[in-house]
Amino acid sequence: MEDLERLREELTSAVAGTADTQALEELRVSALGKKGQITGLMKGLGGMDPDERKAMGQALNALKAEVADAIEARKAALEDVELDAGLETDRIDVTLPVRPEMQGRIHPISQTIDEIVAVLGEMGFNIAEGPDIEDDWHNFTALNIPPDHPARQEHDTFYLPGEQDGERMVLRTHTSPVQIRSMQNGDPPFRLIVPGRTYRCDYDATHSPMFHQVEGLAVDKTTHMGNLKGCLIEFCRAFFDVDDLPVRFRASYFPFTEPSAEVDIGCTREGGAFRIGHGDDWLEILGCGMVNPKVLENCGVDPTEYQGFAFGMGVERLAMLKYGIPDLRTFYETDLRWLKHYGFRALDVPSMVGGLNR
Ligand code: PHE
Repeated sequence: MEDLERLREELTSAVAGTADTQALEELRVSALGKKGQITGLMKGLGGMDPDERKAMGQALNALKAEVADAIEARKAALEDVELDAGLETDRIDVTLPVRPEMQGRIHPISQTIDEIVAVLGEMGFNIAEGPDIEDDWHNFTALNIPPDHPARQEHDTFYLPGEQDGERMVLRTHTSPVQIRSMQNGDPPFRLIVPGRTYRCDYDATHSPMFHQVEGLAVDKTTHMGNLKGCLIEFCRAFFDVDDLPVRFRASYFPFTEPSAEVDIGCTREGGAFRIGHGDDWLEILGCGMVNPKVLENCGVDPTEYQGFAFGMGVERLAMLKYGIPDLRTFYETDLRWLKHYGFRALDVPSMVGGLNR
């Protein structure tokens, strides 16, 4: 019995001293397993006389139960500690960058086009494209700009040498010829936007011989000036991310729209700082109007049945205004430091849900 008491103390202090669940399991096997100490003692019961066997049996059973309980309790405690340690070492710092800093940047022109497309795409416009090298008819005549029209001079056109099918070829001076091509090649209704390169012989801080426009065209049976205004007011506010941005339609003239308007947005220039939004000043940002019935006719669309609106905007100008880029020529200088400063991360894809820029 004294031996038993010593064994009890030995085992319970050994249980309390185990460092991990594996050591505890080894201890359990050596005490309670088939060849364990307590099991061995129990096997010895058979050789005892009845009284001794009874007393010893009860004592051994009590010891066995006590040791088993102690092992269970220790196991639960060790498992908790091990789980906490595991969680600590497996911890992920979600604020770490996924990869090292990316070197490449999205050019502000690409970003701005993506933003314009995100806003207008959401409204149901589809993307259309056309060639950079146009014939005189698509670039001018079909858009109601006949050969001797004064508007031709304003376009500072790059003419290409020679002719094709009796037509003079030009680098398109605007994206409007894609209105013509799209209407000729499809059936109304039309709802399209045309991002693309355009060319005019002009070069200074706000003009480049190659620049970008986004054209818009909506033609249906009941499309009216209210649709034009609603669409463009909504566009300006979403693009510049100013909910109450003042938008003004100022009467203007384009041969291919009637009536025509230029769109101004509110801004301030207080204390030399330029800001888009409520203010005492206006800034012109795009041209628009109701498609001239003659243009519809030139494309085989019946103007007694269909009417529509069109608009055109300069991408560089919008990018300069939105991102505070002072000189248009820097867009094309391929200066990596400039791109790093004004460029966008490849994964910051603009959308109306995720935001236009972050
Ligand atoms: N094509 C015009 C320009 O380049 C813009 C415009 C497009 C105006 C469509 C009205 C309608 O200035």
